[in-house]
Formats: sequence, structure tokens, C-alpha cells
Amino acid sequence: SLVFVAEATLPIPAPNIPEQCNSIQNCCMPSPYTGTAGIRLFEFEPNQPWRTRRPAHLLSQFELDRLERAYDLLRALPDSDPRSLLNQKNLHCLYCNNALYYPGQKYPLEIHNGWYFLPWHRMFLYWHERIIAKVLNDSTFALPFWAWDNQQDTNPPSNVIPPQYTNPNSSLYDPIRNNCSLVNPYVDFDTRGGICTNKTADYMRVQNDRLMYTQLVVGSPTPALFYGQPYYFGDFGGKGPGTFEDSPHGAVHAWVGDPYAQPPYEVLDDMGNFQRSAYDPVFYAHHSNVDRIWNLWLNIPGGVRTHPMSKAFNQSQFTFYDENANLVKMNVSHVLDSDLLRYKFEDFPAPWITNGV
Ligand code: C2O
Repeated sequence: SLVFVAEATLPIPAPNIPEQCNSIQNCCMPSPYTGTAGIRLFEFEPNQPWRTRRPAHLLSQFELDRLERAYDLLRALPDSDPRSLLNQKNLHCLYCNNALYYPGQKYPLEIHNGWYFLPWHRMFLYWHERIIAKVLNDSTFALPFWAWDNQQDTNPPSNVIPPQYTNPNSSLYDPIRNNCSLVNPYVDFDTRGGICTNKTADYMRVQNDRLMYTQLVVGSPTPALFYGQPYYFGDFGGKGPGTFEDSPHGAVHAWVGDPYAQPPYEVLDDMGNFQRSAYDPVFYAHHSNVDRIWNLWLNIPGGVRTHPMSKAFNQSQFTFYDENANLVKMNVSHVLDSDLLRYKFEDFPAPWITNGV
């Protein structure tokens, strides 16, 4: 006889990071800080000042100095502090390297390659920004965005690694970058298969614009295509990325990191792998741009450009460390409207919305 088994579609419950993380190798924090207050549920903070995220290549001297001071301070925090750059790296890593298991469940939590990719990274950056505001004692601090999506021939250009991140004397510098970005300074979205290309800047502009248009405009007119595969509590995660997560998001990682890298990644590659990528300060400028483009996508005409309506998606929860190093959990529904989180993106042209045609 036929038996129909209803597929469970439960939301992800907030993991208790210090309790559920299973090994230092999988990026558990060196001395996990649990605090005494348990895991509080995030509440909106309408009295926070607005923060404006600006293009990384157009920062003022004041903003640049502030940003460098921020990463100096994060690097200087002790390994026991969950807000240190090392532990920010670990937090990103442990959500995607088989570190978080739930009692009685077979598979670990995985927030890449599926529909939690966008909201999870928005949460991660939200707390990263709040932590920096705290260590700087400047509640107006906003992360910059690296506008790699804009191929216009401007001075300075936006489709190269923002210059301050390539200065070896800067706290924004990461020596563990690769190959491709050194061969050709212009971002190349076509780094698939680990091939660093040496195309002309003009060729790259056309190619990159077309890729943006394909992935963000014509190729992703529905939430399913854009956000990626559904993933419910208890599932084996990472069933498939949305168009945007795959490329350009992933392509930029591979282009800054090293697509040839093998373990041990710590000598070869930061941006190109899940374990290490959030150790490179440019990760945050990269993801700030991902976050900005998510907002742009919602306003592109044509198709059904909404968030997934599923209850499980909206009610899923993830846990972070807040600016005071206390545990906090957020619902996906908390982060679907960035205005409610009190930050904005400065207007910056996104010519690919029409240029790729
Ligand atoms: Cu969690 Cu851009 O990766």
C-alpha cells in the first residue's frame, strides 16, 4: 500500500552556540562565553541612530581612519572575547563546517547553499557593525560596501579591491589573498574552475554586467530562484544556492581568495573558503554589498520579487553575540526589512540592472 509521509517543514530553532558546538577544529570559540543571561530574543531598537553604509572606495579620510581603528581594535581583543576578529571568523565558520548539532538530529546546521544565506549574513553583519560601534564608542558607525557590481570606469574604480584593504600597513589588509586579484585588479566574476584570467578591463566590464543581469534580473524573477533551496529543521542543509549566492557572491570570494587552495587554508587562502573567509576584513565590505544588492533585487521590475512566505523560513532563528558579548537570537522575519534595523545604503549606480541586455 502507498504511504504518504508528510515532509516536516519546521523552522530552525536558535542554536545554543557554546553548548552545541562540537570541536575547536570546526571553529568553536577557544573559550566560549556563555554569560549568565541565557539567549535573549532580539528586539528592534527604534532609538538607535540611522547608519548609512557608504561605498568603500569613496570613504572620507575620517571614515577610513575610523574603519582602520575598528579592525585594529577587533584584532586586539583577547581570544576569550567572542567579539574579536578571530571569533567573528569562528562564528561564521561554525555555522557552516559541521560544528552545530542539535540533540537527536542527524545533520549539522548549514547556512550556505540555501535560503538562509541572505538573512543569516544580514544578521551576522548587523552584529558585526554593532560590535564595531561599541568598541569605537561611536553609534553612527556603518560598514562600507564594496561596489564590485558596478563596472563603470570611474576614478577611483569600484570594481577593484578598495585600496585601503590592499595596503600592507593597514588593519584592513589580509596577506592571505591570492592570485587572481593580483593578476588583474578588476573583479572577474568568471573564476570558475579556478582559472585566473587576464582579460582586458573592457572585456571584463561587459562580461560582469551580463553576469549580473543574468543572475539578478532575468535569471531570478522568483523567490525560489533568488533565495535558493528551502531547508527545514532536521534536513541535510545546503541543498542548493540561489543564483546570487552562487555568483557573483561566490565568484568574488574565489577571486579574492585562492581557487586552487587546499588545506591548510591558513597559509593559502582566506576569502575562498568557509572556514577562513570572515578573517579578511574585506569579507564584511563584500557582504555589505551583497546585502545592498538584496535590497535592489526586491525593487527590480518584473517577476515575483518578494521574500519566501513560508512560515518555517520566517520563524527560523539564529544565535549571535551582541555588542556586549551576550548571546542574542534573531528571527529571519526580523531582518527582512533593513530599515527596521536602522541602516541604509547610500545611493550608488547599479547600471547592470539595464546594461546587461
Ligand atoms: Cu558565509 Cu560570503 O559567505
